[in-house]
Amino acid sequence: MKATHYYNPNGEEILDEKIFGGSPTGFVDFNRSKYQWDSNIYDLMNANTWFPSEVNTSSEKKNFVNLTENEQAIYKLTFAQLSFNDSAQEEYLSDFRRLANNRLIKSVLSLQIMQEVNHSKSYAVLLDACGNSDEVFNLYKYDDALNRKNLRIAEQFASYIDGTTSDEMLLSAMASVNLEGVYFLLGFAYIYTLGDKVPGARDMIQFIARDELNAHLPLFANIFKTIRKENSISTKTIDKSYKMIQDAVDIELEYGKYLLKSYPIMGLTEELMEKTVYNYANDRLEKIGLDAIFEKSKTTYLQDLVTKHLNINDIKSNFFESNVSNYAKSSLDINDF
Ligand SMILES: [Fe+2]
Ligand SMILES: [Fe+2]
Repeated sequence: MKATHYYNPNGEEILDEKIFGGSPTGFVDFNRSKYQWDSNIYDLMNANTWFPSEVNTSSEKKNFVNLTENEQAIYKLTFAQLSFNDSAQEEYLSDFRRLANNRLIKSVLSLQIMQEVNHSKSYAVLLDACGNSDEVFNLYKYDDALNRKNLRIAEQFASYIDGTTSDEMLLSAMASVNLEGVYFLLGFAYIYTLGDKVPGARDMIQFIARDELNAHLPLFANIFKTIRKENSISTKTIDKSYKMIQDAVDIELEYGKYLLKSYPIMGLTEELMEKTVYNYANDRLEKIGLDAIFEKSKTTYLQDLVTKHLNINDIKSNFFESNVSNYAKSSLDINDF
């Protein structure tokens, strides 16, 4: 690595630093943000900082034992998959960050990396309380569908991460839009469907979902749109972006339908899953400035469940009695992007 990578007095002005390509001087200056949304998202992520120890998991084992066998399987296979998503995202972000030029964007990614690690820690805390941590983290060895979903996500992450062009960086950002905006969603919905039966898992997921959907997804949607604006991206690359989200929908529904077929639980149907995933994918496409291409239907019950839990005020009152400061944080407008 050249010293100019760290400090280049002849580098470009901070306000000229694009996301892709260029040579920054080397300063992180939050007072000069080229985009503004980057520093807004940073502030939002900071304000929403939470720690797994803040969630009450003391009854998780007792609650888990009271679930039906199918519910227990859904619980375990959901956390087995979600925990992979966060582990993979941490590593992917470190790699993606190397492709980026703008130092403030890189700083926001650094904070996101910390949050993904925090999510990994939260799964460990929750599953330890539940008493099945080793079993859940080893499920990929025995469950072919879980292993296949993880592999397909890893393949999408790996596809363009070594890229040296703005087109490849855009496609790499697309993989992250899919992770934050598609691959988590049925998992969140399953845990919210179990809801009051497993309040520890529900509250943990509520914090994780808020990070993914209110901060990480807008961050990568903005990164995608900005790379596209700042570079001449080919039509072929945009076509590939559509293909990537079609694959993401297929990946999400394949695992979802497998879980439902193998471990049916009340309130979930294949049709409901399809509508939910299509609606989310359409929303993600619109968020990144592309056209909705999936069949449209009314907002589903599962989407309503996820949205309802994005409101942190819904977390049980006993949580706030011991965490007054977090309650104050919830008054921030988290959708102001
Ligand atoms: Fe995460
Ligand atoms: Fe995330």
